[in-house]
Amino acid sequence: MSHIVLGIESSCDDTSAAVIRDGYLLSNVIASQQVHKDFGGVVPELASRAHEQNIVPVVSQALEKAGVQAEDLEAIAFTRGPGLLGSLLVGTSFAKAFGLALGKPIVMVNHLQGHILANFIRQYDKPVREPAFPYLCLLVSGGNSQIVKVSSPLEYEILGQTIDDAVGEAFDKCSKMMGLGYPGGPVIDRLAKLGDPERFRFAKPHIPGLDYSFSGVKTSLLYFVRDEMAKDPDFMEKNKEDICASFQKTLIDILMDKLIKAARQTGIREITIGGGVSANSGLRERIESEGRKRHWNTYLPEFKFTTDNAAMIAIAGYFRYLAGERTPLDVAPVSRMADF
Ligand code: KG4
Repeated sequence: MSHIVLGIESSCDDTSAAVIRDGYLLSNVIASQQVHKDFGGVVPELASRAHEQNIVPVVSQALEKAGVQAEDLEAIAFTRGPGLLGSLLVGTSFAKAFGLALGKPIVMVNHLQGHILANFIRQYDKPVREPAFPYLCLLVSGGNSQIVKVSSPLEYEILGQTIDDAVGEAFDKCSKMMGLGYPGGPVIDRLAKLGDPERFRFAKPHIPGLDYSFSGVKTSLLYFVRDEMAKDPDFMEKNKEDICASFQKTLIDILMDKLIKAARQTGIREITIGGGVSANSGLRERIESEGRKRHWNTYLPEFKFTTDNAAMIAIAGYFRYLAGERTPLDVAPVSRMADF
């Protein structure tokens, strides 16, 4: 018998629903919210309201595209957290009501575990290539920077994580400060391709073990740009490609140093990346080149599965469902990882 699972994601500013059958993706619908553009960041209250408007049409479309009736679903997976509480509440409440109405079980998913399992989303028109357990996942997003050891779809160990800013935050804050726009990652990525990554040097942290720190490099860039602009007001405009290339290279160096260390310490050579920053073209190239050098098997999720999407929630929920997990209807969303 085939297992059909609906996934629902609403942790930040994307409302998404996806349907998978036996691990294969049938549909993945994402409604991105435009209301935040003028504010230079996500406005939580506006995000919740947009989720409320989007959730019913997004789920209907996902079912329709998949050619699946609601009654055919075997389970409903949803993001319980971490994320914005008001946004999570919309997806969680919808999942509960839908499950109750259909008489189908609901299964909660940790958003980060969705990112970690994104390489297991199978597509009918693509060859299957999945990491073997245990593997290491470099999880890099707007809220997290972690190295996670994944021993099975349900077993995780965080080997290292940021002690201050996330790497995505460093991209976003620096981009905003340099007047390049929001979100910063894609803008810096685009400009970095045109610049010289060796032109400028920024401070690198010295943190013991496998933990990260990104606040120092952020401050180093901010002071550098401020000082140069005081001498020449056009400095930024004239040099933005080189600044972005050098800054991005510094972030990638920091990420890679600890990932290489983690691979060496654990002896694990199956390496994946996940989260919004895993869309970064410089990071993707670097993982592949280091991988060739170090005999790693590297797995990079497709771009559409790097940012928030319900396909990864559906696949994580599918594994949990198969393992017998069912979530009671009195579940409440949680905003922080620590509350899981
Ligand atoms: O996982 P994600 O979609 O959401 C949250 O963390 O909530 O990650 C968003 C982050 C943002 O910081 C964004 O700037 C970053 O991912 N990002 C990128 C790129 N695309 C998105 N960072 C670097 N290069 C990119 N191409």
